[in-house]
Amino acid sequence: MGTVQSEIKFSEEKLKKVQEIISRYPEGRQKSALLPILHLAQREFDGWLSVPVMDYVASLLNIKPIEVYEVATFYTMFNLKPVGKCLIEFCRTGPCMHNRADQIIEYTEKKLGIKVGETTPDNKFSLKAVECLGACGYAPMAQIGKFYYEHLTEEKMDKIIARLGQDFNPDNKYEI
Ligand code: FES
Repeated sequence: MGTVQSEIKFSEEKLKKVQEIISRYPEGRQKSALLPILHLAQREFDGWLSVPVMDYVASLLNIKPIEVYEVATFYTMFNLKPVGKCLIEFCRTGPCMHNRADQIIEYTEKKLGIKVGETTPDNKFSLKAVECLGACGYAPMAQIGKFYYEHLTEEKMDKIIARLGQDFNPDNKYEI
């Protein structure tokens, strides 16, 4: 992941995947494939959706760019600006807040020297606040890469930052 989006075009392999996703929906309803294709695009193009990437997705689905912007700006799981290699998405909804989410977030902000919405200068970490991720019973929690990290404490955040700052892979679940 990074800040440079070079050529905005899926590989042949990814284009096949796009066609496969579109084929799941009835003729004329290709817009229904928008969410999975946006996820694919975000993953492929440096972890975020720039306007040219969203325009490219619109062209693949044969829909208007505004239809893509509307969806991409609505859901917090889409990043509309560059993010660091390891994106920590803290839940900031009621049950997590009742279980010290705000203190954990503040602690992490201080530790990394950035605020929510920002990226560290070495591009290793970004912080984001999102709405309920459906793991309220394990509050406070955060999503990092594909996985949830639950019952967060200051000590756990220290371990997460130390471990994931080394060689973060979003497909890995790290034991903390
Ligand atoms: S309130 Fe945080 S996961 Fe639901």
